Amino acid sequence: MASRSWLCGFVILLFAFQSSIVRANVLPLPPPQCRQILFSTTDLFQFLTLLIQLRTEFFLRASIGVGINDISPGLVQAGPAAIGATVANLDTVTRSIIEQIGLNSVGILRAIVSITTLNTPLARPLVNLGAEAFAGVLNLSALVPPFDIYSNTLSFLMAANTLTSIIVTFEGAMAPAVIGNAQQELLSGISRTNAAELGVIRGQLFANVNATVPPYALTVGELVNITAEAVNLRGRCGVKEEGLVVALQLGAENRTRVNVVAGDANSLGYIRTPLEVLRILFGTANATVPGGVFPAGLPGNIYRLIQTLYVRNA
Ligand SMILES: *[C@@H]1O[C@H](CO)[C@@H](O)[C@H](O)[C@H]1NC(C)=O
Ligand SMILES: *[C@@H]1O[C@H](CO)[C@@H](O)[C@H](O)[C@H]1NC(C)=O
Ligand SMILES: *[C@@H]1O[C@H](CO)[C@@H](O)[C@H](O)[C@H]1NC(C)=O
Ligand SMILES: *[C@@H]1O[C@H](CO)[C@@H](O)[C@H](O)[C@H]1NC(C)=O
Ligand SMILES: *[C@@H]1O[C@H](CO)[C@@H](O)[C@H](O)[C@H]1NC(C)=O
Repeated sequence: MASRSWLCGFVILLFAFQSSIVRANVLPLPPPQCRQILFSTTDLFQFLTLLIQLRTEFFLRASIGVGINDISPGLVQAGPAAIGATVANLDTVTRSIIEQIGLNSVGILRAIVSITTLNTPLARPLVNLGAEAFAGVLNLSALVPPFDIYSNTLSFLMAANTLTSIIVTFEGAMAPAVIGNAQQELLSGISRTNAAELGVIRGQLFANVNATVPPYALTVGELVNITAEAVNLRGRCGVKEEGLVVALQLGAENRTRVNVVAGDANSLGYIRTPLEVLRILFGTANATVPGGVFPAGLPGNIYRLIQTLYVRNA
């Protein structure tokens, strides 16, 4: 009996092994700089808290002029104030959208602390929220006058779109590595909320796709195209950031040029590894060379491991 069930287990294992070989033949291995590195569930959530803190501090300061610790004291480390944060010149609808998303994210950070082994106060990254830092990440620094995300609603939404897209795609990359039912449910809840937020932001941009963004002659559609191209080049793993209007061959089912919701050939969302995320947010196309909105790099194991073990593919 015992030996029969052993044999049975062996056959199942062999089968599983073979089918993974077959699949590996069908799906080509991504280039080295785009491969997933295995990080622990806690490290992945810790990295996520850094991205969420960046966007939360940005959204709360820009919409209502307060930070995470003003809303939920002690949730994140006290530390140097965000560089360059300021209240943005937003229309009423956008201000209330951005405020709600900022407040959503405070609850999300609290949920991460209550379900994972991370504790309060969460390690806090130094963030540069200055207009120049964002112009660099969006690759709009060459515009004259300098691109200022705080000067009007449409400019602000451009930065909000890129940051939210980075968070949602990172959550897609982290999903298969997360261990534990409670942790998987947590990530699922967070990513559904963040994907809805991304939809709202792109919806607002799409409604204005033909509007020019003051003080320039460029339209929202053109500016989103420029920033998407820069994000794709710096991420160094193909096209994952898309314009609001695309060529017909890139639209859903090849039947529409409308691309308010971005996605692959089957309209599935893209994923981005921590390396891609850092290349983009540093604005340097190299995950070991900090800059952009994270001028001092990041606290935590993932960034430390990238700096020590993965420099060659950074
Ligand atoms: C933008 O302009 C194009 C070309 O004129 C037009 O087809 C499209 O409907 C406009 N889109 C929106 C959202 O106004
Ligand atoms: C953005 O790029 C796409 C694809 O190249 C192009 O079809 C579209 O017209 C561009 N949109 C604008 C507003 O330039
Ligand atoms: C950034 O924009 C400049 C033009 O201002 C362009 O020459 C450069 O290729 C862009 N860089 C990226 C990474 O897209
Ligand atoms: C859309 O066009 C591309 C080629 O541009 C093709 O590979 C793809 O199968 C087409 N998708 C559909 C749903 O027809
Ligand atoms: C990234 O930067 C590090 C440190 O400057 C360097 O050693 C490494 O070669 C760079 N990686 C790539 C892919 O450019």
